[in-house]
Amino acid sequence: MTRPELSDSLDLTVLRQLSGADDEVTDPRAMLREVQLRMASFLMEYKFALDEVETKISILREEFELVHDYSPIEHVKSRLKSVESLVAKVERTGCPRDLGVIRERIHDIAGIRVSCAFVEDTYRFARMLTQQQDLKVLQVKDYIAEPKANGYRSLHLIVELPVFLSDRTVHVPVEVQIRTIAMDFWASVEHQIYYKYGKQVPAHLNDTLREVASTAADLDAQMAHLREEIRSLA
Ligand code: GTP
Ligand code: MG
Repeated sequence: MTRPELSDSLDLTVLRQLSGADDEVTDPRAMLREVQLRMASFLMEYKFALDEVETKISILREEFELVHDYSPIEHVKSRLKSVESLVAKVERTGCPRDLGVIRERIHDIAGIRVSCAFVEDTYRFARMLTQQQDLKVLQVKDYIAEPKANGYRSLHLIVELPVFLSDRTVHVPVEVQIRTIAMDFWASVEHQIYYKYGKQVPAHLNDTLREVASTAADLDAQMAHLREEIRSLA
């Protein structure tokens, strides 16, 4: 794994504290190298956990396709939190600048998003994944059954799995977001708007977003009906 990029906007003092780098080292380049190395080995465990979950998903997908001749999964996208956004979250949430505490508190350093065509498949996929014995479910947030006030819908899981390193086993949390294509479309547009306006999204846009979220939910419901009809023909 390559060492993470540390952009100029990052505060080296914060990073030094956070990574636990030795403050006796005064040479800035040596310090930067140490910080980078510490962050890289911290993030590596999450990268391996992501690889493991991705493999699990590919297996489920291929096997399901073979047996049932269709896939409950449309797209899979994974991401590792950048050092920049990790630092931002640590500061925003008032989390101590300590990798041990960060490991305990921040559960979305490794994230995977799975999109399915149908709502039914989001739950089906979640069941297939969470029943696996090496995986522990730490949290389930069902924003499909209970959408957020802004209209956001998605099924969120935090799962923890073992990663076997050369000299130890670590248990690493991975955030899995499961949603339909319609939910994903909405979330990506909402994210762009939120990103553009920061916290000051104009009221009319929030209203429109809520309406569109309900249209997306209707689309999902109609698609489910269509699927039922097709099934009854078969
Ligand atoms: P963080 O926001 O990551 O600190 O998590 P949380 O503890 O509030 O958990 P939650 O399950 O609500 O959100 C986790 C992730 O889901 C977020 O980081 C986003 O990726 C996504 N998410 C949650 N709410 C929204 C939303 O309203 N819009 C969009 N576009 N994404 C959302
Ligand atoms: Mg997050």
